[in-house]
Amino acid sequence: MTHASSFSRWRRKSLLALILLPLAVTAGTPSPGQHPLTGRTYAWPMGVAGADWLDRPERAREEQPDKALDYIGIVPGSAVADIGAGSGYFTTRLARRVGPTGKVYANDIQQGMLLLIADKVGRMGLKNVERVLGTPDDPKLPANSLDLALMVDVYHEFSAPERMVGKLFTALKPGGRLVLLEYRAEDPRVPILEEHKMTREQVKVEIEASGYKLDRVEERLPRQHLFIFTRP
Ligand SMILES: C[S@@+](CC[C@H](N)C(=O)[O-])C[C@H]1O[C@@H](n2cnc3c(N)ncnc32)[C@H](O)[C@@H]1O
Repeated sequence: MTHASSFSRWRRKSLLALILLPLAVTAGTPSPGQHPLTGRTYAWPMGVAGADWLDRPERAREEQPDKALDYIGIVPGSAVADIGAGSGYFTTRLARRVGPTGKVYANDIQQGMLLLIADKVGRMGLKNVERVLGTPDDPKLPANSLDLALMVDVYHEFSAPERMVGKLFTALKPGGRLVLLEYRAEDPRVPILEEHKMTREQVKVEIEASGYKLDRVEERLPRQHLFIFTRP
């Protein structure tokens, strides 16, 4: 296949995703709100109908998830939470990296997503994943239990971001890390709806207001900012 034809195939798929994603996400209702500090409009959560998009084969090339986890540094034996785990695209990768002495909490507000994860981890024989059904303002995780809470393409969907990030603060151990991956709003070439992208400034302002310290922002991924905060 020529470079030109594979590029136009990619463009067709990206445009299709742009058209289909909001259908899976919004169901025609008004926005769930705006952030009081930045004025950012919250996005509607992606429904289970979007799970195929999360698991699309080209995602590995487009987003380089394994590189993202290398940049974060997942410690074997650690306790991590995949917040807004969706269909478990990152859950299974985290489970392999923390290994049998570690633990992954796969958290989501949609039971349908947790069922997809149960199926996936069962087929892979992963024994270190616990599924946790949260609510829009509470991930329902034990206090002081986490070394790392990861949110990939999730934070912008929170309808109560301050309460969620506050609850995660208490779920993290002191020194634990809160990590966000968000599509770059500064880059018009990233083929994602505006409300599903964020700027560096929005993330920094909103998360630091809850008492976290920004350690580092990685800009080596093709489409996403990677933010590493710590609970002091
Ligand atoms: C775009 S999907 C991303 C899924 C996964 N992180 C990935 O990268 O494949 C966003 C997910 O966040 C979940 N979500 C939205 N608000 C949430 C909240 N307050 N707590 C937990 N999960 C939430 C949605 O149900 C959805 O499954």
